[in-house]
Amino acid sequence: MLQNLFTQMLDIRYPILLAPMAGGPGTPELVAAVSNAGGLGSLGAGYLTPEQIRSAILDIRQRTDRPFGVNLFIPEQTTTSEADIAEMNAYLNPYRSELGLAPIKKLPDLRETFAEQTQVLLEEKVPVFSFTFGIPAEAIIQAMKQSGTVVIGTATTVDEAMQLEAAGVHAIVAQGSEAGGHRGTFLKRANDALIGTMALVPQISDYVSVPVIASGGIMDGRGLVASLALGASAVQMGTAFLASNESGAHAVYKQKILSSTEDSTEVTRAYSGKPARGIRTAFMNELRSYAGSIPDYPIQNALTRDIRQAAAKANNPEYMSLWAGQGLRMASGRDAAAIVNQTIEQAEELAKRMPSLISR
Ligand SMILES: Cc1cc2nc3c(=O)[nH]c(=O)nc-3n(C[C@H](O)[C@H](O)[C@H](O)COP(=O)(O)O)c2cc1C
Repeated sequence: MLQNLFTQMLDIRYPILLAPMAGGPGTPELVAAVSNAGGLGSLGAGYLTPEQIRSAILDIRQRTDRPFGVNLFIPEQTTTSEADIAEMNAYLNPYRSELGLAPIKKLPDLRETFAEQTQVLLEEKVPVFSFTFGIPAEAIIQAMKQSGTVVIGTATTVDEAMQLEAAGVHAIVAQGSEAGGHRGTFLKRANDALIGTMALVPQISDYVSVPVIASGGIMDGRGLVASLALGASAVQMGTAFLASNESGAHAVYKQKILSSTEDSTEVTRAYSGKPARGIRTAFMNELRSYAGSIPDYPIQNALTRDIRQAAAKANNPEYMSLWAGQGLRMASGRDAAAIVNQTIEQAEELAKRMPSLISR
């Protein structure tokens, strides 16, 4: 019943996409579990080296013969000065010493590997390639399409969606401001593009003719039915799967997901230099009063990496990045397949009851 042209294009049973979740939660096990359950699993490969991407794809293929996606970050230029980097580094050293880390003198290697990453996806002929933070060069989109890969971009405004359509993507993720993780905004300041899913999805649907995938705050069958009513062909769910059994999120992170509420998150640049929604932590609160300017992504991300990793080792959530969306009270710690199945059952039940919902 929930099939449409987009599910046919992807060769999946249900219009549910697992949000790609880079940085640990999106394990090959989770990706395969969602694909095996009839949705589309997706690997968040933005932080992975080309070799790591290849072995994760192999791992996914050993776990499922269903389609899956791989997601990359479009690289961007930064204008951060050496002085701002040095100032932030000095500011962070007390955090390092509190966690038993040595001060860092030099910025970790920031060599960008996007070209090599896309090469692996082409060689592996992945079924779906999705991306965020911008638009790749036309040659990449064309090469993906020629090798039979479905190409999906991310938009947070109507203008971004129209540019993506003009660039030739097959479908567009409409990322509402409820969404956990980094904002995909690339045409304006991210804080000027915090449009809720309810307002964003119908407006993007009105302005593009490719399928739209609603994302941000969608946690169950109610969110799925609402998204379809708003003009979406599918949903992309992240936070709903963060505490699932197959998620690679740290145990302390999962506990936070399961005990936090709709007002626990905010959009911050503190951890990575790029606006992202996560559960409020001491680190986020403290950086609010930082007097200098926080270096851009990916510099700030590299500067805080050792701190986040040491905090995770020490089971201290206050210095970890706990990316999550606003649907937190609806998150649950179950098998990913159970989350997919319950979402579908609830959506089908709601669809059946629609006449009585409308007339009550
Ligand atoms: C932990 C986490 C990591 C994420 N990593 C990525 C990523 O690597 N690439 C991407 O396009 N989106 C990423 N996102 C954003 C999701 O694609 C999606 O927009 C978001 O999860 C939807 O909102 P929800 O969390 O309320 O379901 C991430 C989200 C979370 C929660």
